[in-house]
Amino acid sequence: MVDCQSRRKFLKLSAVGLIPLGIGPLARSAFAETPVLKVYKLPSCGCCGAWVEHMRDAGFRVETTDFTDLRPIKNKLGIFPKLQSCHSAVIDGYVIEGHVPAREILRLLKDRPKAIGLAVPGMPVGSPGMEHGSRHDPFQVILFSSTHRSVFATYPQHNDMKA
Ligand code: CU
Ligand code: CU
Repeated sequence: MVDCQSRRKFLKLSAVGLIPLGIGPLARSAFAETPVLKVYKLPSCGCCGAWVEHMRDAGFRVETTDFTDLRPIKNKLGIFPKLQSCHSAVIDGYVIEGHVPAREILRLLKDRPKAIGLAVPGMPVGSPGMEHGSRHDPFQVILFSSTHRSVFATYPQHNDMKA
């Protein structure tokens, strides 16, 4: 199993204020330009990079920034400990935590539910960026706000590379 968390180091909390998180009250473009996915990831973690590739393959424009400790960022983005994974991202006013499939992010941006964003807690094997042969463990995509959580999508366990 990949364990990104073991590589974490402490960062000075004072540095957090300098991080441009990109979720301020910026006016959304009136033009149909694809919003940029800004990813905050661990420098030495392969699965973060693999998820970025999954998102690029799906057509997203991605900018990445490496941090050795993402906890201050996760806290600032409102990602509760139980929802946390390795990388965090923001796109078009929403937070994306962990190995969320691209198709769910497209649905989020289309439907625009009132929420902080989507999370795939932990590091489920078989989720995008966590491929391990034909093994696909079950996982859920959680839609979360500061007060509510609901299941946005369910991915069942299977051992078939298709589907
Ligand atoms: Cu990961
Ligand atoms: Cu990772």
